Amino acid sequence: MTDDRLIVALDVPNALEGLSLAEQLGDAVGFYKIGLGMLTGGGLALANELKSEHGKRIFLDMKLFDIGATIENAVRGLAQFDLDFLTVHGDPHVVRAAKEGAAGKPLKILAVTILTSLDRADLDAGLIKPGDLPDLVAERAGRAFEAGADGVIASPQEAAMIRALPEATGRLIVTPGVRPAGSALGDQKRVATPAQAIADGADHIVVGRPIWAADAPRAAADAILAELRT
Ligand code: C5P
Repeated sequence: MTDDRLIVALDVPNALEGLSLAEQLGDAVGFYKIGLGMLTGGGLALANELKSEHGKRIFLDMKLFDIGATIENAVRGLAQFDLDFLTVHGDPHVVRAAKEGAAGKPLKILAVTILTSLDRADLDAGLIKPGDLPDLVAERAGRAFEAGADGVIASPQEAAMIRALPEATGRLIVTPGVRPAGSALGDQKRVATPAQAIADGADHIVVGRPIWAADAPRAAADAILAELRT
């Protein structure tokens, strides 16, 4: 049994490299995230192959945002693929439309609260209302849950606060921005270690560069899995 609390972000340029990474990780990893960067590089074909040939679970990270009718159509189309998680922005009209599009399918809709690469200065630049970032994340998470989201994406530093929301009962918290001690932050600003993220209430952690950019990806994944077991 793989420990599906670890989701590996396949942020490599194309499906061939994604497949080769998944083969290196072998039975250590059972859940993969395929994102926008891979979309034009065969991302959906890779998702199908990993699911049907290798029995992996798939998180399609599209972070959709549009008018409700367009979201509903897009999600209905994507729900034809055998996917497990799909992200949309956490605005309530987007979440409601995505849930309509996924009706009758096992696909879970995860709402993005505030990207983990952003800080308050970035929110100012984007004309987002004043307030502390954690408060805004909690407010967005609560509204997304009320709109029907099956879960939220949030920084591990916000996981405990979201887990404590009454609306979060029975919902998923998925945290990118996870860094084993001593690894490079890249553009992530609000990070925690894998064990801390899970202890704070995350159901899944998403780890990209610390695994796929490592000299030995399998060893990097094994170290994270060992940390999760302790
Ligand atoms: O390489 P790294 O571990 O930072 O990768 C994190 C992954 O999670 C990336 O694919 C990134 O797009 C995604 N993500 C994120 N913050 C969010 C939502 C998704 O970093 N709020």
